[in-house]
Amino acid sequence: MKMKIAVLPGDGIGPEIMEQGIKVCQAIGKKFNHEFEFNYGVVGATAIDDCGNPFPDKTFELCKNSDAVLFGAIGDPKYDNDPKAKIRPEQGLLAMRKQLGLFANVRPVTTFPSLIETSPMRKDLVEDVDFVVLRELTGGIYFGKPQGRSEDGNTAYDSSVYHRYEVERIVRLACEYAMQRDKRVTVVDKANVLATSRLWREIAGEISKEYPEVTMDFMFVDNAAMQLIQWPKKFDVIVTENMFGDILTDEASVITGSLGLLPSASIGQLTSVFEPIHGSYPQAKGKNIANPLGTILSVAMMFEYAFKLNAEAEAIRNAVMHSLEANFVTEDLSKENARTTSEVGDWIAGAIEK
Ligand code: IPM
Ligand code: MN
Repeated sequence: MKMKIAVLPGDGIGPEIMEQGIKVCQAIGKKFNHEFEFNYGVVGATAIDDCGNPFPDKTFELCKNSDAVLFGAIGDPKYDNDPKAKIRPEQGLLAMRKQLGLFANVRPVTTFPSLIETSPMRKDLVEDVDFVVLRELTGGIYFGKPQGRSEDGNTAYDSSVYHRYEVERIVRLACEYAMQRDKRVTVVDKANVLATSRLWREIAGEISKEYPEVTMDFMFVDNAAMQLIQWPKKFDVIVTENMFGDILTDEASVITGSLGLLPSASIGQLTSVFEPIHGSYPQAKGKNIANPLGTILSVAMMFEYAFKLNAEAEAIRNAVMHSLEANFVTEDLSKENARTTSEVGDWIAGAIEK
């Protein structure tokens, strides 16, 4: 198969981890006889430096004309420390999600047996955790209007807005996922306070009638934050709005032992995007220490979701599992015997080719 892939390394550690993702693609290409065309695009702070726009049209065109997008990370401290900056790198990520219609962010959370000890949580709680969060990605408070400041600058406001069709499509997708899994969906909201959450509950209840085999329950987000840590094994599919999903998936990453491990797929109307859930980790930029596994596992998700190549995805996951078993890992997972980002990438690529 020939695959045309848009590569957007982005900021901070983005380029270093992306390099490992590409290595892994090439190893898969050799082993399974695939050909790739990689085309690079700018996004985030890098794109602001390049042309003043964090998601330039040329990058959008590149994504639209590709079979899949691999995305690194976005963000730069020079903007974080300047709340007055009008153009921000994160706007690039949000623009990409909106323009590509990426309404569903799929974030699987599974524990690797060899990392159970790395998790700060008790072993019996994290063993065999296996759930997936479907985070709505193009609505809610991230995009709602009005958003801004009063003229005197002393008041600021954001709006959370959801339309029926936005809730329907993501809840339906959650039910489809559940049908392939343990047939349980937990809708996370704050329906005791928020009007948008009450709309979610109403619509989710309707959609669940289309899936009689799926058991749906509802949970307030504060309670869900607690239960996720208290009893992570009880979840199968979680579906939630944009910001709750953002927060809960960072929390969920603690269960697995490192934020650097979690991959994601953003799917929707145009080309799908595959990216690790972590940020740009600017303190580690250029040091060759960041964990590339989130990116490498996102490449596995790409083969599975964008190209329906399950054996290729499995080969990557197996190689990752072996690297963990061999303790061939970056410093976030092993202080005494840390390997570099590129060493881990080489090891995994080598394991796939063998
Ligand atoms: C994520 C990130 C982004 C988000 C930021 C960088 C805007 O935290 O992908 O989870 O909040 O969606
Ligand atoms: Mn986040």
